[in-house]
Amino acid sequence: MSNYHIKHLEEYFQVYRKSVRNPESYWEEIAEEHFMWHKRWDNVLSYDFEKPEFKWFEGAKLNITENCIDRHLRTRGDKTAILFEPNNPDEEAQHISYNELHERVAKMANVFKSQGVKKGDRVCIYLPMIPELAVSVLACARIGAIHSVVFAGFSSSALATRINDSDCKLVITSDGSFRGSKTIDLKGIVDEGLKKCDSVETVLVVNRINAEIEMKEGRDQWLQPLLEKAETTCAPEIMDAEDPLFILYTSGSTGTPKGMVHTTAGYMVYSAFTFKNVFQYREDDVYWCTADIGWITGHSYIVYGPLANGATTVMFEGVPSYPDYGRFWEIVEKHKVTQFYTAPTAIRALAKENLEHVEKYDLTSLKVLGTVGEPINEEAWHWYDENIGKKKCPIVDTWWQTETGGIMISPIPYSTPAIPTFATLPLPGIQPALMDEEGNEIKGNQVDGRLCIKFPWPSMARTIWGNHQRYKDTYFSAFKNMYFTGDGALRDSVGYYRITGRVDDVVIVSGHNLGTAPIEDAINEHPAVAESAIVGYPHEVKGNALYGYVILKETGESRNQDNLRKEINQLISDRIGPIAKLDKIQFTNGLPKTRSGKIMRRILRKIASNDTSNLGDTSTLLNPEIVQEVMDNVIK
Ligand code: WTA
Repeated sequence: MSNYHIKHLEEYFQVYRKSVRNPESYWEEIAEEHFMWHKRWDNVLSYDFEKPEFKWFEGAKLNITENCIDRHLRTRGDKTAILFEPNNPDEEAQHISYNELHERVAKMANVFKSQGVKKGDRVCIYLPMIPELAVSVLACARIGAIHSVVFAGFSSSALATRINDSDCKLVITSDGSFRGSKTIDLKGIVDEGLKKCDSVETVLVVNRINAEIEMKEGRDQWLQPLLEKAETTCAPEIMDAEDPLFILYTSGSTGTPKGMVHTTAGYMVYSAFTFKNVFQYREDDVYWCTADIGWITGHSYIVYGPLANGATTVMFEGVPSYPDYGRFWEIVEKHKVTQFYTAPTAIRALAKENLEHVEKYDLTSLKVLGTVGEPINEEAWHWYDENIGKKKCPIVDTWWQTETGGIMISPIPYSTPAIPTFATLPLPGIQPALMDEEGNEIKGNQVDGRLCIKFPWPSMARTIWGNHQRYKDTYFSAFKNMYFTGDGALRDSVGYYRITGRVDDVVIVSGHNLGTAPIEDAINEHPAVAESAIVGYPHEVKGNALYGYVILKETGESRNQDNLRKEINQLISDRIGPIAKLDKIQFTNGLPKTRSGKIMRRILRKIASNDTSNLGDTSTLLNPEIVQEVMDNVIK
């Protein structure tokens, strides 16, 4: 029986039991058989939830890029590693082979070195979704520099905060980026941000859009001439298993962003293992994750996980709506994509459009569909299943977090029965627990509670950069000897998990615990509704009441709004019960969202509660302008 590749449900249960009974030997076997090490570990795992401290494969020596690139050269040197699809469909796609990737990473690594970057230095990568982004990530790993990728949609002040928090020495960016029919002045954003950053010595600039930009003497350099002079090989820096590989910032419910630190060996083993199993990747597959490498999904499931398995991974520079809403499906047809991984928010946006955009294309290459980032509502799940998967592709609803480094709860395609809105079962080695507010574990099935993980797994974040206390307080203080995820979940009668949303999204109405996601599901079933968000607001009698923000499919919906409100409440009442009815329903043209597409409920809660004095920083939202509009139309 292979521990590494699970192919059916019975095998899953066997492997899972083994992984829980003896986690050390389980992960040791996988690490031994599927990766390349310069020196073996002395100890598979040591941990202490109090400190908290977690070490996997301590004493081992390795370089992750040898695992992601070098070891494939002999058997798959000419195979496409990265398939780059540009923003403009008329620009030719690039097939970057493993041989080519090896050379490009070496050259980039040599350029970084020539600029004085050494092992342990932090490098900020602020690039659009072009090959140089993946190459820079790998080049850092090649020389042991710690990469901090900042999503290129973040503002100059958000960029500066992140650069300063980890004292980055070098920034790599581009003269600009293409985004649909627009171009964005990335270099201008960097220049603005760097006014507040003292640590940065060098800015390397990729020429992507041929823009006229200012180059600051002594600081800025065009990348291309440096690459042309660079050597084509670069010996890998030999790293300790627990050396930091990267920092990735994630926003907390309060305060500044948290620089989650991931280390080398455990992250490599877990991202590779989960990629193989969750997507059932086979040698000739073409895998596409539509995320941006600026997010954890891109780190683990565009770059490291796929490349560690010798896969072909698609990188798409553009947006789903350009040149029209058929772009995703056009790309699937063009490159014969076999696995497609995206976010529910994208599915909902595309489902709003005419089906002709889907029907024009041949999607028969698809084998597995995935979603990530937020609970997927039933309606979107079925749309995805019927129109994209043609009811033949298993859907993997993958639950995980920046902090977890890899997918934690997910179906295994062709093994676990897929149930809409359920992330289903924990992957091997993952031991979830549901906790009540008093800190007791809720055992048995058909229960819900706060989702914790009660045993370490290899890719867990090891600390928050520069603030270990905050790491302890945020994740290890709510429940003893557990990692607290901040999410709520339920376990159904057969033990499948459904993530119900952030615990802070739970609203208690008249003493009843109501998850907002199922209410939103119900509302979204209404044929006129495109999207909705529910929050609680203080209510004299009930403690909390529910406030709904609803986007209609057709703006200027001519129907009587009061009738629509009644119909929506009737639906909720039918699906969940009268207790979940909304007291107020505001129709709106949009909802404030983070750059990764998550609805900012914190802001909506404040608006619904008439508490708009301190909305916090809204400048990093995807659509900051919508906040005022929502406020102007609030129902008092
Ligand atoms: C939410 C993204 C329901 C959850 C990889 C989590 C999900 C947060 C799912 C982490 C899912 C992610 N179903 N909720 N399949 N996947 N989430 O750090 O609330 O950007 O805590 O990582 O997204 O978001 P992050």
